Amino acid sequence: MLFFVLLRIILCYERIHFSYILAIESSCDDTSAAVLRGTTVLSNVIANQEVHRQYGGVIPELASRAHQQNIIPVVDAAIKQANIQKNQISAISFTRGPGLLGSLLVGTSFSKAFALAMDIPMIEINHTNGHVLALFAQEPDDPTPVPQFPFLCLTVSGGHTQIMKVNDYFDMDILGKTIDDAAGEAFDKTAKIMGLGYPGGPIINKLAKEGNPDAFQFSKPHIPGYDYSFSGLKTSFLYFLRDKLKENENFIEENKADLCASIQKDIIDTLMKKLIKAAKDTGIRQVAIAGGVSANTGLQDALRAAGKKYHWEVFIPKFKFSTDNAAMIGVAGYLKYQRGEFGTQDMTPYARTVISTGA
Ligand code: KG4
Ligand code: ZN
Repeated sequence: MLFFVLLRIILCYERIHFSYILAIESSCDDTSAAVLRGTTVLSNVIANQEVHRQYGGVIPELASRAHQQNIIPVVDAAIKQANIQKNQISAISFTRGPGLLGSLLVGTSFSKAFALAMDIPMIEINHTNGHVLALFAQEPDDPTPVPQFPFLCLTVSGGHTQIMKVNDYFDMDILGKTIDDAAGEAFDKTAKIMGLGYPGGPIINKLAKEGNPDAFQFSKPHIPGYDYSFSGLKTSFLYFLRDKLKENENFIEENKADLCASIQKDIIDTLMKKLIKAAKDTGIRQVAIAGGVSANTGLQDALRAAGKKYHWEVFIPKFKFSTDNAAMIGVAGYLKYQRGEFGTQDMTPYARTVISTGA
């Protein structure tokens, strides 16, 4: 009798800890699929949609069509790279929202069909939760230190800018957020004004390395509490350039690196000021960044410098887990799988959400 009880416990442990999760991310313009065992990422395939570059931003209709084209080959590649068979997958997790509805529909519909065909549970994930939980992604033979709860997370992407107090994997309080543009939009829009291409964040980041961050100053908003505003910065930048271009039509070309370094510094200073305030007020010393903008090397340096100064332990996701990717949806999926939190076939995607206890 005892033997059978022990066997059941071992089998149950094995089922949960060594389960393979297939994860799908399709909220914006990246089609991604990943396979995880526990929180260990075995594969993380991302198909970027080049089609949007010529328009300087994501065209939703084109994004959903590209997801349709990409999803099967991307999933196929993820399963092959993980070196497993389809029938070894225990559950499928997918981004239910927020994001572009047409894009989300592709990932959601695929996940429903896969779950039905393979007779496995499906697990819905909130995209912003996914970005935060990317901090827990592990790679085989390369253990990554993870934050302890509660920790602060500055989640910065093309759609979000939030300071979160992360109490547990799916229990996050938003201390502050942007009241207009996200930090990623501030990068993308100012890059567009300079004619630098899309997405602007990585381009500004690269050019900023050669420039003087104190060359130019733009107006900074004074928003109370932990909230942010970035739309004023964009407007101030636009008017500044309009005046300079009247005097010298080559102004942007001649000052590109300094302009990038200065605008990046302004965005980073704004982000860090509120994060430091939140850390002081809450007394929390485990501080992380997440989301696409967390790939910014200037922001990473600023976080490390603040960490040194204020005695924080800082956490930065690996580059491949910071911009949109399915591995982060797989980490979140595995954590919900452990809890037995499964979705149903009548679920539909949502474009917007008030974050997020996993809904
Ligand atoms: O997380 P993400 O891939 O998608 C959203 O959920 O929005 O973030 C995309 C955003 C874009 O605005 C992009 O310009 C920005 O992240 N980004 C960066 C960098 N890499 C990506 N911003 C600044 N510096 C970077 N190196
Ligand atoms: Zn994202």
